[in-house]
Amino acid sequence: MGDEKVKILAIETSCDETAAAVVENGRQVLSNVISSQIELHKLYGGVVPEIASRKHIEKIDQVIRQALEEADTTLGEIDAVGVTYGPGLVGALLVGVAEAKAISYARGLPLVGVHHIEGHVSANYIEHPQLEPPFLCLIVSGGHTNLVVVEDYGEFRILGTTRDDAAGEAFDKVARAIGLRYPGGPQIDRLAKEGDPHAIAFPKAKIEGAPYDFSFSGVKSSVLNYLNQHKMQGLEVPKADLAASFQQSVIQVLVEHTMRAAEDLHMEHVAIAGGVAANSSLREAMETACESEGIRFYHPSPIYCTDNAAMIGVAAYHAYKKGVRHGWDLNAVPNLRLGERL
Ligand code: KG4
Ligand code: ZN
Repeated sequence: MGDEKVKILAIETSCDETAAAVVENGRQVLSNVISSQIELHKLYGGVVPEIASRKHIEKIDQVIRQALEEADTTLGEIDAVGVTYGPGLVGALLVGVAEAKAISYARGLPLVGVHHIEGHVSANYIEHPQLEPPFLCLIVSGGHTNLVVVEDYGEFRILGTTRDDAAGEAFDKVARAIGLRYPGGPQIDRLAKEGDPHAIAFPKAKIEGAPYDFSFSGVKSSVLNYLNQHKMQGLEVPKADLAASFQQSVIQVLVEHTMRAAEDLHMEHVAIAGGVAANSSLREAMETACESEGIRFYHPSPIYCTDNAAMIGVAAYHAYKKGVRHGWDLNAVPNLRLGERL
């Protein structure tokens, strides 16, 4: 009984990736299919919600079919359906939720709704079989920036959050301002390698009395001012230096706050999650900082950092084991809070 296999079909449609995966026992990814809409949204410089929903509807069946095929699995061998039900774009979320409900109803399978950010954190379990709660996790995505203690599977204590922009949002906005296309994070990452991170001094926001909170609007405004001044004076912008300096100032704050929390709370394990966790300089800086403090550092491979359904399958497995079951009234919750279950 104890070593019975649990196969979960997971669905993720919270933003601009239509994704489905089959995950066994919360660690083994049998398939992970992602149909990205990025090329389409690039035309508009960001995600257009209405287009995202329509594309999800067009792609979802095919993506699920492919996920089952690649996992060499049929619906008859699936034990439960996991789906992201928030936070995210409401129309986009609804496509996944409706699809998951239809499959689980038709097949008589348990339905497990998953918090998107819980999914991002769970991505760390895929490639680190030894990682177990408790650990500290820095979540940095396009929509979220949170520093949390993962106290148990699916249980979080939020230490800090952003007061304004999410880290990924800051990357995307700065990238756009220097003429890079959406999503800007990976492009800044690439361009920064050719620049000097100490060339331009951008501010590193600290918030009085809230050592674990973040603010990125200051550095973003500072970059925009710098660009305006250069434009007015007819000077050429050193884009690579700007990308490297901006990235450095964001990363320094992320690392400092995380390390301070690790020290304050005596955490021995630190992980990062979310799209920005794919950033090569952030990984290196976290690795170095953790190493010097004797802390074990974990990060998912880039494919599991950005939106995917495998991470949802992992989170769904742990919720499933705890007895979480959702009914046919499961709805999309665009502003679902971390740690909240509906
Ligand atoms: O987690 P994710 O795929 O979607 C959300 O849940 O928001 O994160 C997307 C964000 C975007 O802002 C993107 O620019 C950023 O992650 N991102 C990166 C990198 N790869 C993706 N930011 C910095 N460096 C990267 N290599
Ligand atoms: Zn995400």
